[in-house]
Amino acid sequence: MSDSSDQNVAPENNPAPGGVERTPIRIFDTTLRDGEQSPGASLNHQEKMEIARQLEALGVDVIEAGFPITSQGDFEAVGAIGKELDRAIVAGLSRCVPRDIDRAGEALKGANNPRIHVFCATSRIHREHKLKKAFEEIVTLSVDSVKRARQFVDDVEFSPEDGSRTELNYLVDVTAAVIEAGATTVNIPDTVGYAVPEEYGHIFSYVREKLPQIARDGIYLSSHCHNDLGLAVANSLAAVAGGARQVECTINGIGERAGNASLEEFVMALRTRSDYYKQYETGIVTKKIFPISRMVSSLTGLQVQRNKAVVGENAFAHEAGIHQDGMLKNRNTYEIMDPTSIGVPESKLVLGKHSGRHALGDRITELGHSLDGETLDKVYEAFKALADKKKDVYDEDIEAILDEQLATGRRLWELVRFQVTSGTGVIATATIVLRDSSGTEKTDASTGDGPIDACYSAVQRITGVKVTLEDYQTRAITGGKDAQGEATVQVRHHDRKVRGRGLSTDVIEAAVKAYLSAINRIKTTEERKVNATMMNGDAASTGKAAQP
Ligand code: KIV
Ligand code: ZN
Repeated sequence: MSDSSDQNVAPENNPAPGGVERTPIRIFDTTLRDGEQSPGASLNHQEKMEIARQLEALGVDVIEAGFPITSQGDFEAVGAIGKELDRAIVAGLSRCVPRDIDRAGEALKGANNPRIHVFCATSRIHREHKLKKAFEEIVTLSVDSVKRARQFVDDVEFSPEDGSRTELNYLVDVTAAVIEAGATTVNIPDTVGYAVPEEYGHIFSYVREKLPQIARDGIYLSSHCHNDLGLAVANSLAAVAGGARQVECTINGIGERAGNASLEEFVMALRTRSDYYKQYETGIVTKKIFPISRMVSSLTGLQVQRNKAVVGENAFAHEAGIHQDGMLKNRNTYEIMDPTSIGVPESKLVLGKHSGRHALGDRITELGHSLDGETLDKVYEAFKALADKKKDVYDEDIEAILDEQLATGRRLWELVRFQVTSGTGVIATATIVLRDSSGTEKTDASTGDGPIDACYSAVQRITGVKVTLEDYQTRAITGGKDAQGEATVQVRHHDRKVRGRGLSTDVIEAAVKAYLSAINRIKTTEERKVNATMMNGDAASTGKAAQP
């Protein structure tokens, strides 16, 4: 193995080749903010908390937990994560707008290591068409905003949005001005994924060279790359070579449009090619990469493509005979990373109806989750119910149960039972019984274009929530005749896309559960908005601010 070192050893015990002193690179994870902006990927409070805890355990330095002005959900998530985590810095995003900054400051009150991240676009195209402001006005706005943020916290990050398309001299000027105003990190984003590596790396070396205060005062320069041309990780590596000391990324590379730089790819590139990137290190516990990748995928409903680097299902699969032969002789022939170094389980442990709560708890920990006793009890109940129907319970089944249990917080409507009649030449008819959060059962029936359509119409009649189904997929999550079926749906509610996921050994039941989970997400968001309006007058009812 070229990557034979123990992946969990502290960096000081894992010196760079030739005894070179290593420079720590801060990992800033924005899965909960930029990642959550992926269409349909909205997470509930409990899911955000769980991801944040696992990010801290992964060794991430900064967690961007949300954009507090945009919703009550983001406000609460930033607050709760900031208060609970005691090692990672927790950041809240804010436009250069006073009420945004105040809201971020309020959300972070009581946080152990708070950061406010303010941004303002600086490129010509954004100045002229979006902001309709001259560069000098933007500098003034940025400086005032950094100063305002500093009244709440000592740690302030500033991002000149669309920085990679901003004139270099302007970038230097705005960076100098915000540092003077109190910014401790300056992030230069490639907002639209337009940069190429040499060019992006040069921006960092240029700014550092022009502004000696960056090195002198320990100011962090940061990269933030989008993947529109598939260059996000390459650009992030180039930024580090140019002098960036913080890299912004997301688990599985999720994010706006084509996504952000993927955390696992960046970290493993630095690690696997430590012969090349000699002096850099991150504090990431790489063995936790695979479990958190699976967790983020199942909670967001965004599946990881099979051939995705590092965490895809095929990333370590060798199909060609010549490769398999080489692997048997020496794994180094075709494998540049040891799969166990990123936490791919060495063997698939199968549980069944005789497995106890303890064995289940151990496996859940190995899968990267930490559950309190009460949640574990509920998961164990669901596990036993499944094990009664299904001989072998695989990791995928356990993850599916976890996913359902973490969703209970938003389970306003629950499926009690259903019945469908369908067949060739028969009008599909469904009768559905749902229970609302007060425990009242409601029944309705509907016909439809097939059994699922009939079920969905009946659900709409009971819940009163009208949505348009945009995507519907089913798959078996494990093999065998008794495999659980997973249904995922994407529905549109006004201008919002929402995902839902459901599981059952009965595929129609899985489809109904998926639909209900999307409807529950919609209802939860609506309730939060109403509560926020009642609690805060109009401050929190501003709806989504324009997302970066
Ligand atoms: O892509 C972007 O420019 C952003 C900023 C808020 C950093 O997400
Ligand atoms: Zn971004």
